[in-house]
Amino acid sequence: MNKTLPLPIAGQSRRTLEIEVFRYNPDSDQSPHYQTYEVPCEPDWVVLDAINYIKDHLDRSLSYRWSCHMAVCGSCGMMVNGEAVLTCHAFIRDLPDQIRIEPLDNFPVARDLIVDMDSFVEKLIAVKPYLIAAKERSLDEGPYIQSPAELQNFKQYTQCINCLLCYSACPQVSLNVDFAGPAVLALAHRYNLDSRDMGRSVRADVVASNEGIWECSFVGACSEACPKHVDPAAAIQQTKIAATGDYFLHFLTPWKKKHKKSVELSE
Ligand code: SF4
Ligand code: FES
Repeated sequence: MNKTLPLPIAGQSRRTLEIEVFRYNPDSDQSPHYQTYEVPCEPDWVVLDAINYIKDHLDRSLSYRWSCHMAVCGSCGMMVNGEAVLTCHAFIRDLPDQIRIEPLDNFPVARDLIVDMDSFVEKLIAVKPYLIAAKERSLDEGPYIQSPAELQNFKQYTQCINCLLCYSACPQVSLNVDFAGPAVLALAHRYNLDSRDMGRSVRADVVASNEGIWECSFVGACSEACPKHVDPAAAIQQTKIAATGDYFLHFLTPWKKKHKKSVELSE
């Protein structure tokens, strides 16, 4: 745990915040409860600094995830006053004197501010988030070549840090826990758009199923919550258009078989 806290900004004063934190230890608690801490916050602190202060100075039993403190690792997502945010990216100066910190919505709580991500990881694996090439190249044949323009086609969707904010913001995830969800569908779209990939029809088994793109009602909350501007809502709508085209093409060219051979070989 990093105990080095940021230095104060000249001319701005420290504020004491009343921070209400969701607590739940499955080994000892019958049910969750809230615990309030008075935290003296420096003007340039983010919420994660205040949580680290609690851990370092007030209550060592508090459990939560974080790593990079720079909006890269995706592990510090929590609900702050009801909004899904990266706590290392949410400044105290933008918040009132009383705040409530809770684990991300739409996930089971493992302990305190830590959620159980297993269902998300299972959904992620199901869409085969890796390149599926039409033909494996040997090392002698060299790398798969891609132009800058081809990269630009999907680059936005590579920015995802798996922070899960979009799952907490999504009303469809809260209604149907089996919905593949925004980040998973955006990542599938990222590979489907990649000029080196031939796995779209294979991913379609999950992506174009009832629990895939068609479950999305295009509220757009996922894209608003996303701290990396991935725009998963756009990815899902683009995938709907592509899947609709595939559906009609299937009737026009019934002799075309799904490209599954390379996947079977890789499994
Ligand atoms: S799409 Fe955005 S909000 Fe969703 S997991 Fe990826 S980075 Fe986080
Ligand atoms: S600590 Fe890594 S994203 Fe916040």
